[in-house]
Amino acid sequence: MLKTTANTEKLHNFSKVCEILDKFDRQPSKIIPILQAVQEEYRYLPEEIMTFVATSLGTSPARVFGIATFYSHFSLEPKGKYIIKVCDGTACHVKGSSGLVETIQRELNLSEKNHTTDDLLFTLETVSCLGACGLAPAVVINDKVYGQVSKQRMKELITEYKTMEA
Ligand code: FES
Repeated sequence: MLKTTANTEKLHNFSKVCEILDKFDRQPSKIIPILQAVQEEYRYLPEEIMTFVATSLGTSPARVFGIATFYSHFSLEPKGKYIIKVCDGTACHVKGSSGLVETIQRELNLSEKNHTTDDLLFTLETVSCLGACGLAPAVVINDKVYGQVSKQRMKELITEYKTMEA
């Protein structure tokens, strides 16, 4: 089910998707870059947009859904503006990454099942080795890497990002 967001409004406005489709000349062979562009715009692949893309390309929704579910970088669930990736590779795990996950869940009211905040500001993900083991425990928020993150620092980071949005 869709969360209440500004995205809801976006969903009913297909002009962005039309722009994306035009950019790729409505070529069915460009389906993957089209879906990538749609995901960049909406931060996930909304069901009704995928159906619209399928119809516009003259292909079946089943094919589009098939591609979207096949590639792991596509998300069918709404995602937050800020994706917090906590590394849970060996080095980070040893240095307490699970404590960071718990801290984030508590601060943002998230759980094992619910990874995205209702305001669509944050999504929590765990990943295996980010390739920055010297910085363990490492956290990446969107493209920014934070090293040797303590629970306290994690709380501060969340506050900093929230403040940026306030
Ligand atoms: S284990 Fe976390 S960066 Fe390598």
